Amino acid sequence: MISGYTEVCGVIGDPVRHSLSPAIHNAAFADMGVDWVSLAFTVAPEDATVAVAGLRAMGLRGVSVTMPHKALVVPALDQLAPSAQALGVVNCIANDNGVLTGHSTDGIGFVNSLASDFGVPVAGGRFVIVGAGGAARSIVHALGVDGAQDIAVTNRTLAKAEDVVLLGGAAARVVDGASLTAAMKAADVVVNTTSVGMGEDPSMPFDPSPLTDAQVLVDIIYNPIETALMTAAAAAGARTANGVSMLVHQAVEQLRLWTGHMPDPAVMMTAASAALAGR
Ligand code: ATR
Repeated sequence: MISGYTEVCGVIGDPVRHSLSPAIHNAAFADMGVDWVSLAFTVAPEDATVAVAGLRAMGLRGVSVTMPHKALVVPALDQLAPSAQALGVVNCIANDNGVLTGHSTDGIGFVNSLASDFGVPVAGGRFVIVGAGGAARSIVHALGVDGAQDIAVTNRTLAKAEDVVLLGGAAARVVDGASLTAAMKAADVVVNTTSVGMGEDPSMPFDPSPLTDAQVLVDIIYNPIETALMTAAAAAGARTANGVSMLVHQAVEQLRLWTGHMPDPAVMMTAASAALAGR
């Protein structure tokens, strides 16, 4: 029952009505038995810092931050956690008694999804990351921090891949299209972070047929829930995952930061799947 004591959090973005975050958050709160509610707030880009001042004034406990606000809110925050500092963007604001901290939980969300879904550790592992947008940046940074042995990054625009590898430390390198197959064959995990295959697009960002049953293919797209890339990788024998698990695990970390308690990822996964199925 919502009352005057209910703690409020949410998600800010523009557009944001389609966001799965409130459904995922509220399912976790119900399961945790805490008196919290999560809502979606449409915030125009020019209002990013005003919205942050508003959440401070009204005592919201935290918000997830989606496009176009991930960099825009940063000047209004009191401090940044290390990953947000490295990336220059946040996907989460935590309000601890009026002190606003920006976090970036996509990278840890990816790492924890791999451990949870496949039991694959990052330390000592070999990774191929296709794409060089915001998601690739978070993932490469987290893989570097967690001690991956090799992080091969490729992208249609190679100059952007050169930028991304700077976030991954000594293990990160750029590979061009010609070297991609060799890098893929040597990898433990291959990740698509491009938008190729999203929505009605039936195409694949690369040919996954060299993959084997010793490898994992993650496509961070979750619409559709199975991309052409995943289907082809599974046909080659690889174990595959879509982006729902990363989405859930980045939210797990956010709720842990806001509430101080660990939510149940399985409950949140069920909520995310139900929300997606209802679209
Ligand atoms: P996000 O922030 O979600 O990670 P983004 O910043 O929009 O996404 O990045 C999209 C990624 O998809 C980029 O790596 C982009 O490649 P470019 O840097 O060359 O633009 C990649 N991408 C989009 N459409 C593509 C296509 N048709 N073929 C190959 N890569 C594509």
